[in-house]
Amino acid sequence: MSSAEGGELLRAPVFHTPANPFLQERALECHWDGGLLIRAGRVAASGDYAAVRAAHPEAESRDWRGGFLLPGFVDTHIHFPQVHVIGHLGRSLLDWLQECALPEEARMADEAYARRVACAFVRAVARHGTTTALAFGAHFAEATAALFETAAGAGLRLISGLVLSDRGLRPELHQTPNAAYEAATELIGRFHKRGRLLYAVTPRFAVSTSEAMLEVCQTLVREHEGLRLQTHLNENPDEIAEVKRRFPWAVDYLAVYERFGLCGPRMVMAHDVHPTDSELGRLAAEGTSVAHCPCSNGALGSGIFPLRRHVQAGVRCALGTDVGGGTGFGILKEALQAYLLQRVAAPPFVLGPAHLLYLATRAGAEALGLGGETGDFQPGKAADFVYLRPPAESPLAGVLARAETPESALAALFTMAGPESVAEVRVEGAAIYRAAA
Ligand code: GUN
Ligand code: ZN
Repeated sequence: MSSAEGGELLRAPVFHTPANPFLQERALECHWDGGLLIRAGRVAASGDYAAVRAAHPEAESRDWRGGFLLPGFVDTHIHFPQVHVIGHLGRSLLDWLQECALPEEARMADEAYARRVACAFVRAVARHGTTTALAFGAHFAEATAALFETAAGAGLRLISGLVLSDRGLRPELHQTPNAAYEAATELIGRFHKRGRLLYAVTPRFAVSTSEAMLEVCQTLVREHEGLRLQTHLNENPDEIAEVKRRFPWAVDYLAVYERFGLCGPRMVMAHDVHPTDSELGRLAAEGTSVAHCPCSNGALGSGIFPLRRHVQAGVRCALGTDVGGGTGFGILKEALQAYLLQRVAAPPFVLGPAHLLYLATRAGAEALGLGGETGDFQPGKAADFVYLRPPAESPLAGVLARAETPESALAALFTMAGPESVAEVRVEGAAIYRAAA
């Protein structure tokens, strides 16, 4: 057997959360002198290096000590057309949309520009250690196709879809429900289940979708097996009031989506900063997931996410960067911001490194219906990982050198590691990003 057939054994500290730390103690698995064996793009084994080595003497070993192996990050909420509008601080959601986001989204009608933004987007996502993203496409089919094609070329695991709206934005971003149905159907045929790509039906939010458009979403979900769905929910009080005005028959915001069958497993609602207890109970009962976007919630003043209430109600939560309402592409930063805001919430909810790693990885995979495929290092899963190696002489390298426990090293990574510490990112064993040596 050649060494390639025997696999590649990476030697470094290995961290992952094969269980949910919100439900179970000792959900975090750390192997300080760890080994991750990759064969044919899958995790063949993970654990203590000596044990993996002894069981697989044929594998080709690489000494990656000095860095850390984590499952690839999962971003469950991000907008591809908003790369260039990050950083407009000081506005609230509806003003930010009108003044900052939507004018840029209108530029996606220019396919050549959209293709350049797609390249910048995919590069930035990969460079921050994200291996799987659920991303809003554009309101234009060709721009959305450009994103799928760029992600496929780069090897990123991407779920996306044409953004659907027929009112309340700008006329050039509106489509009739019929045109939306035709365009989405065509994109589903081209990209859904092609390699690592999946399609997500993407009504922007209830404010910008009529009942006829929500019916189109329901039809698409019924007509095609395995589609995901993404939208926004309960982000901001003015938005919630607008939904009440537009759907007077709905008892609350979630009821609008429920009426059209848009809730359930593999359906992801972004934000949910202001839910009622009834909505939380229904989200949990339906198995709908929530994308928690703490940087965006802070930047747009949306509020402090009631994470404890979600956890206590049994709602599945994962992390999203929400570029460009959010502040950048880093899921590590997002996890830290989740920690910081929960730390000062009333009452405080103190998250540990196991919670942060789970939220950044496996929770996202579960929310996207990919829990059997990615999110941790259990044998058989795709070898999706990020190799963090802080620059020599950096303050983080100094902190890590004196870390006394794996948990404290992991906490330091979440606190201090940014893209400068991302050395290599792989999806199914193949590099999608490698830092210059
Ligand atoms: N609600 C509807 N569209 C958007 C968007 O682009 N960003 C955020 N944060 N919320 C939204
Ligand atoms: Zn969003």
